[in-house]
Amino acid sequence: MTAAKQHRGLFITVEGGEGVGKSTNLQFIADYLRSRGIELVQTREPGGTPLAEQIRELLLETRDETVFPLAELLLVFAARAQHLQEVIMPALEQGVWVLSDRFTDATYAYQGGGRRLDLGQIASLEALVQGEFRPDITLLLDMPVAEGMARAGARGELDRFEREQLAFFERVRGAYLARARRYPDQYRLVDASTPLVDVQLRIEAVLDGLLAGRGL
Ligand code: TMP
Repeated sequence: MTAAKQHRGLFITVEGGEGVGKSTNLQFIADYLRSRGIELVQTREPGGTPLAEQIRELLLETRDETVFPLAELLLVFAARAQHLQEVIMPALEQGVWVLSDRFTDATYAYQGGGRRLDLGQIASLEALVQGEFRPDITLLLDMPVAEGMARAGARGELDRFEREQLAFFERVRGAYLARARRYPDQYRLVDASTPLVDVQLRIEAVLDGLLAGRGL
């Protein structure tokens, strides 16, 4: 491992189903880390570069044509390949931390759990696009599906994913929770159904642990 890699920034991702409060808490995390002197790039998936944001639009817009799960999977990874090379890797190599609203764990949850694609196929693409690169820490905001959907539904116009049925989101949640159990070093589970102040105390404790681990 090179010196640059040893001292690289941390890669933090935030995951969760619809309506779990991702946006509010992402802003909280970014503000907290910056207040502790961390240089941070805030980004999202699908998206994060002009090309990847165009792919995001293709993925989210509702259309008459059926979108085949494999096509959806390949679009997600095409966006990710661009995002990694253009934004994530250069930042981390310079020692800047990266905070991403979703990453590959969302692919396992939505395309694997939700669309029932083979997890081995997802793992093959993950290896192709990322090699062994994984998030350092993933905060999973979790709450019962019906509660999250009620919150997301209140936002107005629904995108192609938000139009899915309850059973789809139950599979998404199940897949996230299964990954959290399987990768306890990577995941920090946050009960997002509690009052916001409690959610943010839990998040703060996770971030304090990360900072302490780096002597910060
Ligand atoms: P959101 O993060 O703004 O909720 O919207 C992104 C949508 O894209 C969300 O419904 C989940 C979906 N998605 C996937 O299906 N697979 C992926 O790999 C990622 C990153 C997102």
